[in-house]
Amino acid sequence: LRGDELIVVSNREPYIHETGPDGVHFKRPASGLVTAVEPVMRACSGTWIAHGSGSADRSVVDKHDRVMVPPGSEEYTLRRIWLTPEEEQGYYYGFANEGLWPLCHVAHVRPVFRESDWEAYRRVNERFADAVVAEARSADPVVLVQDYHFALLPALIRQRLPRATILTFWHIPWPNPESFSICPWRTELLEGLLGSTILGFHTRFHCKNFIETVDRNLEARTEHEHSTVTINKQTTLVESYPISIAWPSDTQRAAWPSVADCRSAVRHRLGLGPAHKLAVGVDRFDYTKGILERIHAVERMLEKHPSWVGEFSLVQVAAPSRSDLDEYKAFQQRIHQVVGRVNARFGSPGYQAIYLLAEHHEHDAVTELYRAAEVCMVTSLHDGMNLVCKEFVAARDDEQGVMILSRFAGAAAELNEALIVNPYHVEESADALYRAITMPAAEQRERMANLRMTVRDFNVYRWAGRMLADAARWRLRERIEAR
Ligand code: G6P
Repeated sequence: LRGDELIVVSNREPYIHETGPDGVHFKRPASGLVTAVEPVMRACSGTWIAHGSGSADRSVVDKHDRVMVPPGSEEYTLRRIWLTPEEEQGYYYGFANEGLWPLCHVAHVRPVFRESDWEAYRRVNERFADAVVAEARSADPVVLVQDYHFALLPALIRQRLPRATILTFWHIPWPNPESFSICPWRTELLEGLLGSTILGFHTRFHCKNFIETVDRNLEARTEHEHSTVTINKQTTLVESYPISIAWPSDTQRAAWPSVADCRSAVRHRLGLGPAHKLAVGVDRFDYTKGILERIHAVERMLEKHPSWVGEFSLVQVAAPSRSDLDEYKAFQQRIHQVVGRVNARFGSPGYQAIYLLAEHHEHDAVTELYRAAEVCMVTSLHDGMNLVCKEFVAARDDEQGVMILSRFAGAAAELNEALIVNPYHVEESADALYRAITMPAAEQRERMANLRMTVRDFNVYRWAGRMLADAARWRLRERIEAR
């Protein structure tokens, strides 16, 4: 698979250009998808097609809407697609985030399905299919389709470029067939995805759910043993590829401030003493992330162990996300209220039990927090993989720090040395938190060393490498069979 044939499609773009007081600057979005796919694109080069969403995005592209990125080092092409406000509303906010997002996450938020959103979703998928054709330099490019915004895209590309190798990765969970089947357009979505050469999920469990959903809803041939689905003479391999992060290089690590400096900088900023213990949470401000449950766990821990009041705090980064949606607005307000209540209960001058930092943080600021904290809490109610836990582990080259991880995040299958919790069980999470802040350094070291080995070995290049190697094998076989 030659690098110049690679095309990635995702909704979220890896670099967002904004106009600020000092001119145009760029930022990196809070997106697990982008965190994972960006280093792969830098290594392979090619073209990344995505929705241009920044206020200055139009000012930096050429006449074909292309810009070389990363800014400054220019390693691959970013091709921006402009959506009308109606398209963004129906396709992104509506069908993708009020329909598919709650449909696929068991977070007990009811999905909303509107005919008009579906129409916009279809139209936008068509527009991206046309863009793939426009960007393709050969009749058989390798196209990496990313996530639930593009369930129809694989089949649309297949119609236009029958010889393309299409690797689709679904970054969120796939629910069981009963749950999925409430979607009015379930067959269209399934047929769309089955235009893929390979359809990837994070876990075997999600692959199994997908194949069972096909069995219930389509006249297709499924082979459970080989994990393939055949429909309209197209066979799709349904495989699990646990996503990960790029392990930090020695040069990157050398640029990090020491753990001691990170510790004192963060504590100083919050006005806390040097021995104050911190847990950190870093999430998009999203109802699937278990932020409320995490706050309840902190509250319960302080209730059970009052000597920690004044000595321990949770620093919660919550990057605003999809805030145009009522469900997100209501959730964000609710969290502010509950944080206010808990802080009123336990706080004192100069001390808060919870510091809610409800704004976007750049990667360096997040790394500083990871290195400053004793504990990292990931308590998602449901999560495809979750990369925050892997980033925390990668940041702890001092082999200290404890990871508390939800059993409902895909990462729980890999990160056995974390303290695994059911986030719905407040008592259990509170006890895990207490155990984490009182864990002896030796035990922390043993767990962290193992976690670090896992994340280093199973990094994002292995994720992409396995998927591309499977695709290359598949492509070779198809070519031999076609002779
Ligand atoms: C999840 C999705 C990604 C998405 C990210 C951020 O990780 O799987 O596709 O990019 O959330 O959400 P946003 O809607 O801001 O792109």
